[in-house]
Amino acid sequence: MALHSIALIFIFQFLQIPGIDAKVSSVIVFGDPTVDSGNNNFIPTVLRSDFRPYGRDFDGGRSTGRFSNGRIPTDFISEAFGLKPTVPAYLDPAFGIKDFASGVCFASAGTGYDNATSGVLSVIPLWKELEYYKEYKSRLEGYLGKTKANKILTEALYIISMGTNDFLENYYVLPYRSFEFSPKDYQKFLAGIARSFITEIYHLGARKVSLTGLPPMGCLPLERTLHGGICIARYNYVAKEFNKKLKALVETLNDELSGIRLVLSNPYHVLYNIIQDPQSFGFETAATACCGTGRFEMSYLCNEHNPFTCTDANQYVFWDSFHPTEKTNCILADHAVRTSLAVFK
Ligand SMILES: *[C@@H]1O[C@H](CO)[C@@H](O)[C@H](O)[C@H]1NC(C)=O
Repeated sequence: MALHSIALIFIFQFLQIPGIDAKVSSVIVFGDPTVDSGNNNFIPTVLRSDFRPYGRDFDGGRSTGRFSNGRIPTDFISEAFGLKPTVPAYLDPAFGIKDFASGVCFASAGTGYDNATSGVLSVIPLWKELEYYKEYKSRLEGYLGKTKANKILTEALYIISMGTNDFLENYYVLPYRSFEFSPKDYQKFLAGIARSFITEIYHLGARKVSLTGLPPMGCLPLERTLHGGICIARYNYVAKEFNKKLKALVETLNDELSGIRLVLSNPYHVLYNIIQDPQSFGFETAATACCGTGRFEMSYLCNEHNPFTCTDANQYVFWDSFHPTEKTNCILADHAVRTSLAVFK
């Protein structure tokens, strides 16, 4: 075979890679600020990040409403599956159904499994994220026809990521749920909501689903600040216990819902390792965040007028006192793609 035709085959195969590899048609996201790409910009809440220095390392230095200096894990995951490098927010009028056909985000910073959690800062509750998904589904059917739309929705990867706020914004700071539930029972309550949510999206067509576990939430800089600089072991313990419950739920639902492929993506250990030894992952520190003093600032307190913000976010595991930097997000996404999500590749 002539050299140039070999070269052509090579190029051809290279061009084909996205097509061949894209066994996932789209990435559809539900959850909290770990995965919100900007929905909170379009609702009346104080929990927002559509101003500098948020997004200063994003394409064009734009603050998109992502709670980071750049991209979030779902953006990296979408890209790793040969799809778009960013997942657009459903409420953002700059995007339309054409954009959402290959990825859409319904997540809202500050939300959780529990309705009472989203009430704290008036953000989008999980049931409302589901309502938006149903609206999206019918818009997609109108745009592509029922058959094509359903094919996309069946082959899409659904990512669910929340739970931290249920504990840190609600259970441990407000009197209601902690009066009503022991930590164990509250975990059961949340896992029950996760169970009905996954069952509902399954009946609406979801088959490839990743449920995300909790991070070592006792080590978020804000929590450390409240605890003399050290991680709150009790919160980390609850996160690990809750992740065990989610793992059991994943096993049960894989048995119950025929044809579903549900996985648990557990960020706990990889993030814990980074926090314990940031230097070996190329960071300087995990104890404080880049934005402001790094001890308590997030949302409006993390703003352009804060003189203490670091110059190189890549040296920090956390961007603000509650949310990771883009570099950490990239490591977490890469870990998920190589482990739990590998079955979808
Ligand atoms: C949350 O609120 C919605 C809307 O009011 C309701 O349908 C749903 O049952 C509630 N979920 C729980 C677990 O209470």
